[in-house]
Amino acid sequence: MISTRILGRANLGITPSRSNLGSQVGATGCGRYTSQAASSLQLACDVPSFSAHEDEEYADVDWDKLGFGLVPTDYMYVMKCAKGSAFERGGISPYGNIELSPSAGVLNYGQVIMTWKFAGSDALKMAHCWDFGWKQGLFEGLKAHRTENGSLLLFQPEQNAIRMRYGAERMCMPSPTVDQFLNAVKQTALANKRGVPPPGRGSLYIRPLLVGSGPILGLGPSPEYTFLIYASPVRNYFKARTAPLNLYVEDEFDRASRGGTGGIKTISNYAPVLKALTRAKERGFSDVLYLDSVGRRNIEEVSSCNIFMLKGNVLSTPATKGTILSGVTRRSILELSRDLGYEVEERAIPVEELLEADEVFCTGTAVVVASVGSITYQDRRCVRGVFMRNLGLLDEFSLHSYIKRWKHRVEFRTGGRMACRELYDALVGIQTGEMEDKHGWVMEID
Ligand code: COI
Repeated sequence: MISTRILGRANLGITPSRSNLGSQVGATGCGRYTSQAASSLQLACDVPSFSAHEDEEYADVDWDKLGFGLVPTDYMYVMKCAKGSAFERGGISPYGNIELSPSAGVLNYGQVIMTWKFAGSDALKMAHCWDFGWKQGLFEGLKAHRTENGSLLLFQPEQNAIRMRYGAERMCMPSPTVDQFLNAVKQTALANKRGVPPPGRGSLYIRPLLVGSGPILGLGPSPEYTFLIYASPVRNYFKARTAPLNLYVEDEFDRASRGGTGGIKTISNYAPVLKALTRAKERGFSDVLYLDSVGRRNIEEVSSCNIFMLKGNVLSTPATKGTILSGVTRRSILELSRDLGYEVEERAIPVEELLEADEVFCTGTAVVVASVGSITYQDRRCVRGVFMRNLGLLDEFSLHSYIKRWKHRVEFRTGGRMACRELYDALVGIQTGEMEDKHGWVMEID
C-alpha cells in the first residue's frame, strides 16, 4: 500500500504491509534508519512510545479471531547494503512505514513483465518473456510458536536463510549470510513476543523481504538492497479454516516456466497468479493448481503451497526442477512420511493421475497441511468426501449443502488411517514442542 502523504523529499511512504490493531499500529517510526544520503529506504517519522506495552505478556488481540490477515506487531528489522558490498549492520526499529525512491528497483522492475504474461497466449512464448528481467524482490515466511513454558520455537529457520541466498544469487542480489538471517529473525521474534499467540491458538508469521531499494532508471541491478523483516500473528490461512479445499486446475495461465524463477521465492511468482486466483475464488474455489507450462499435462504447484497425493501407501509430490518451490514444509512432510512408513516419490505427476488419488493435500508454511476435498479439471469435478467425514471437518448440514451444491456423489472410506491428518499432527506436534523433535528442526529462543 502506498501512502499518499508526502514524506520529506521525493520518496514514497510505504508500509511493509498493514491493517490496524492496538494503539501503536500503523504508527510510523523514526528509528536508526533515518535519512541516509545514499539510501532510498528510510523510516517515516512520528515516533510512538514503544515502552508502553513492554511489560505485558500479550498484545491486545482477540486470538480467536485470527486468520491470515495482517495484524502488525511492534517492531521490524532493517538492514541495508550497497551493490557490490555485503550486508553488515542492521537492527530492530519500531514497525512503521518505509520510504522508497520512486525509481527504486523493486518498484520499477518488480512486476512490469506480468503484463506480457497475460497478453500472450502461447505457452513457450510466455516462457521466454515473463520470467526474464529484473524483478528484484524475494521473500520468505516462517513461524514462531509459543510454548507453555513461555519460550518461542522457530521451525527450521536456517532453511529459509539458505533459500533466500539461493534466490538472491539467481536474482543478482546480495543477501544476508545464514547467521545474519538467523540473528535478524530471532531479534524480530523476540521483539514482537507479545504478538505471539498463546499456545494452541496460532503462531507469529515472520516475513523476511529482500528488495532492490536503490534508485535506477535503466534496466539493471539496483544500487542498494534492503533486507527487512516484519511479523504478524496468524492462524488458519484459508477462510474456510479446516474445511477441505476445492482446487481449480488452471489451464490458461501458467505460474512458472522452464529456465524461469518458479523455483525461488521471488515476489514476481505471486503477482502473475492473482488473475487466475481471483477468477477461481469468484467461482467458489479455494485455490488454483497450476500445470507445467510446456505441455500443460503435469501438476506443479498451488498458488500458495505445494501439493501431494496418496495412492495406496505411496505418497507422491511433483519433483522440484526449477519451476516448483522447494517448500520447507514440503521437505519436512517428505521426511515425516518416511518416518510414518509411507513410500515416498518425487516425480512428474500427470493431472489425470491426481484425479485418481485416494487423498490429496497441500503443504506450506502458511497453509501447514490442508486436505483437498475436490479438484476441478476441465469442468470435471472429482470429490473425495473421505476427508470430510473421517476428519470430522464438516457437520451434517454443511456436508449436505456441499453435496447438493456440486451435485456429486461423495464416496467415503470406512477405515484406515488418513495420511493428511497423521502428517499434520506430526508436523504441528514438532513445531509446537508437543512432540519429540527427532530431526532437530526446532530452534528454541527466549
Ligand atoms: C508461505 O507459506 O509462507 C508463503 O509464503 C505463501 C504465501 C502465499 C502466504
